[in-house]
Amino acid sequence: MADNADNSFDLVILGGGSGGYACALRATQLGLRVAMVEKDKVGGTCLHRGCIPTKALLHAAEVADEARSGNTVGVKTTLEGIDMAAVNSYKDGVVGGLYKGLQGLVTSAGITVYEGEGHLVGTDAVQVGDQRLTGRFIVLATGSYARTLPGLDIGGRVMTSDQALTMDAVPRSVVIIGGSVIGVEFASVWRSFGADVTIVEALPHLVPLEDEVLSKQLERAFRRRGITFKLGAKFTELTQDDDSVTVVLDTGEKVQAEVCLVAVGRGPATDGLGYAEHGVSVDRGWVTTDERLHTSVPQVFAVGDVVPGLQLAHRGFGHGIFVAEEIAGRDPMPIVDTTIPRVTYCDPEVASVGLTEEQARQHYGDVDTFEYNLAGNGRSKILETSGVVKLVREKDGPIVGVHMIGSRMGEQVGEASLFVNWEAYPEDVAQFVHAHPTQTEGLGEAALALAGKPLHVHA
Ligand code: NAI
Repeated sequence: MADNADNSFDLVILGGGSGGYACALRATQLGLRVAMVEKDKVGGTCLHRGCIPTKALLHAAEVADEARSGNTVGVKTTLEGIDMAAVNSYKDGVVGGLYKGLQGLVTSAGITVYEGEGHLVGTDAVQVGDQRLTGRFIVLATGSYARTLPGLDIGGRVMTSDQALTMDAVPRSVVIIGGSVIGVEFASVWRSFGADVTIVEALPHLVPLEDEVLSKQLERAFRRRGITFKLGAKFTELTQDDDSVTVVLDTGEKVQAEVCLVAVGRGPATDGLGYAEHGVSVDRGWVTTDERLHTSVPQVFAVGDVVPGLQLAHRGFGHGIFVAEEIAGRDPMPIVDTTIPRVTYCDPEVASVGLTEEQARQHYGDVDTFEYNLAGNGRSKILETSGVVKLVREKDGPIVGVHMIGSRMGEQVGEASLFVNWEAYPEDVAQFVHAHPTQTEGLGEAALALAGKPLHVHA
């Protein structure tokens, strides 16, 4: 527990996850005195129960697939099996190393960390244990938790991503409820590790928030990988016994498996923390803010997953930096959700930024699109991956959406993000030469085609 003589700060941050610690780091750079309250570990969901450990599992899954498929490129390999204890120790090593680094950063920045659960006890005060911290400003950054559905109690063979990340064996079979980001990432891992996987998704497509072309391509790829999915099918009931779970769908169909993963979204972690009691307006648990992340209480801000919108660690980083600069009077640019890149790290990877074609049509009326098929991309061919890069532009205007699927396409999202955020015209970016052979050429080729001068594209 930190010891601060008068317990008064410029900024008291409730929560030390991506949003909270980014805010703390930026605020100290700007000369503010910062207290950060964390009940578990600095780094939050992303570092300890989210982005980092899941991506470590996905990398292990990729290695398993490579071992299985060495023969396709003439390298004699076989997959002997998955040693989950070793996989977990690799994953925990990655998390542990980053955690150590983050703790060092926080300490050297001079942020005072209070360990324990903090509660808002006034519009300028947070109580943690027997200490009352006061701040000229308060930032609510308490994050989110894995939600479940009525009739779907977590326990035994039924788990959320929290428990799925610590399993000590690969299940023989899994039923996953929810076919969005968490659902397809775990489906990908478990399938690569050898499990039979069935996804149940209420909406008509997997990754239903993405442009339809990505959903359809992912469905085709998952079908080829032997992942079963039931679309437009809702969970209604679950029973479990010593050996299995049985999930009943609204179609009347039953799916039996060894374990069930519930991936139906994450809810805001705001319950019982005193927000509403002190005038912070809360809507079904979410803290409502204006675009400058002010809550209904002038000196209280909110960042990250408690604010309705995309629940992404990098949105939290952006929010945190924004609020620190806002408090310091730097007049930063607001963070707009549609400009934030999104990557789903299943195999094949799904990456996008900006508006889907449907959203762009609703917003701009007339749009132009081009889908570049990775079949024509040398590097993708070498990597034996297939997929597309789709650009959406306002008619005769800038690129407003980029949608990509294929192995490693997440790494292309940086350039895609610059296209959208700089409101680039295809004609502008078409003139930049892309290195050959790289997958980045897919973006270049799509821009060339939209600018009316396609290269490796059949008429
Ligand atoms: P989600 O909110 O993205 O999707 C939940 C899915 O469950 C929806 O597609 C919904 O239609 C489906 N569903 C709801 N009720 C259902 C029912 N009764 N039967 C069948 N399907 C049902 O939530 P998800 O995937 O759990 O992810 C939570 C958050 O974490 C998301 O905001 C996501 O963006 C974030 N996340 C991001 C990652 C990344 O950026 N790579 C990785 C993992 C999570």
